Amino acid sequence: MPTYQLQRGTYDAYDDDALNLDKLQEILKATVSLYGFNPIITPIYEQTELFTRSVGESSDIVNKEMFSFVDKGGRNISLRPELTAGVMRAIVTNKLYATRDLPLKYYYCGPAFRYERPQQGRYRQFTQFGVERVGVTSPLDDAETIIMGYSSLLMIGFPRVTLKINTLGDEKTRDNYRAALKEYFAPHIASMCEDCKRRFETNPLRILDCKDPQDREIIAKAPSMSEYLSDEEKAYFKVITDALERFDIPYELDTTLVRGLDYYSHVVFEYHYTSDDGTNLGAIGAGGHYDNLVSEVGGPMLSSVGFALGLERLNSLLKEIKQEEYEKPFLDCFLIYQGEECQTVAFDLAMMLRFNGFKCDLLYQNKNYGAQLKVATRKMTSFAIFVGEDEVKNHRFNIKNLETQEQEAVAYDDLVAYLDEHLEVHHHD
Ligand code: HAM
Repeated sequence: MPTYQLQRGTYDAYDDDALNLDKLQEILKATVSLYGFNPIITPIYEQTELFTRSVGESSDIVNKEMFSFVDKGGRNISLRPELTAGVMRAIVTNKLYATRDLPLKYYYCGPAFRYERPQQGRYRQFTQFGVERVGVTSPLDDAETIIMGYSSLLMIGFPRVTLKINTLGDEKTRDNYRAALKEYFAPHIASMCEDCKRRFETNPLRILDCKDPQDREIIAKAPSMSEYLSDEEKAYFKVITDALERFDIPYELDTTLVRGLDYYSHVVFEYHYTSDDGTNLGAIGAGGHYDNLVSEVGGPMLSSVGFALGLERLNSLLKEIKQEEYEKPFLDCFLIYQGEECQTVAFDLAMMLRFNGFKCDLLYQNKNYGAQLKVATRKMTSFAIFVGEDEVKNHRFNIKNLETQEQEAVAYDDLVAYLDEHLEVHHHD
């Protein structure tokens, strides 16, 4: 028999990891729905060109990291490296910008694919939870979105999150700044890394993102974006930082923050978290403002803002925080029986209890009472219900509270009421 290996850069989640990933989504959905965001679901693959045009030809993501293939119909397809482009395509395809109130406010959660070198916090298939607000008319739209992301992270349980923020101005400002950067880097570029050399040609702004220590010394003396911003751009940005200050959200102005995707203008931001032992997995979430994406994919000019959080990074940091654990799985009752006749009664009883909203389980393995009880205990069951021959005959069942070990006989007709009364927390209402 061949054995199959887990693909490089992918993972299987089970037990606590799977539960936590599920729970994270639940908390994030609950938080963003407080701000009036609704779900949108788009395909995992799109035409390759959608990503080359939006995420950008000069980005590492499009250049080196896309899972691309030609399908049987000869179409160039890519697995989505992020979800923003697909959401913009969906908004245009379905003309949502023309038929719904603006701004459109959508959240999404799903897998994204990047062919990256796997390392801690970096997978080839990972999960993004994100939001897009399309039809932005005020810097308050941006401010609200940034604060929403920040407070979502607090809701998850991160005690302190660092918000890095910068403004890239509009296209004209960036063109001027790019020209200034080119002039500055020209005498240095021969000694810089290969990525910087490529970026010097395609998008010198991205040089600011380089992590090479030697290059960083050169970058440190580069002209700053802030010198090229117009008064209007500065005023726009100030409305955002003022709002952050009103809510005591600590932020770090990082003028070298340019982000790895080409579609941003004005405000860009990243959320970081460093655990006590110094672990920093890179950004746990990031986003920014973009003006041209909707028009780029065939719709009108609509300014937008959004962010995406990486659920795997959140999950692995969460383990280190060791804050209170999310609720573990549990059962309200477990049916314990022996013999074929009782099995049918137990089966029917379990169905009746589930239809009434109780979390209920039983085994079909011919195990003895003791073995079944052990399974019930391991599965964190509140009540064991014994379905013996006498019980079946008399329509009364012995119910054992597995915490206190107290036992009572309860008539079939009273079972639901009994469980309702005795189960402290009703997870089914
Ligand atoms: P991004 O910064 O490329 O932005 O990704 C957002 C988040 O996804 C990152 O902060 C990180 O937590 C997670 N992430 C990215 N790559 C990986 C990976 N290989 N493994 C694990 N996690 C990863 C975007 O994708 C933009 N679409 C965000 C956005 C939405 N901007 C505007 N709207």
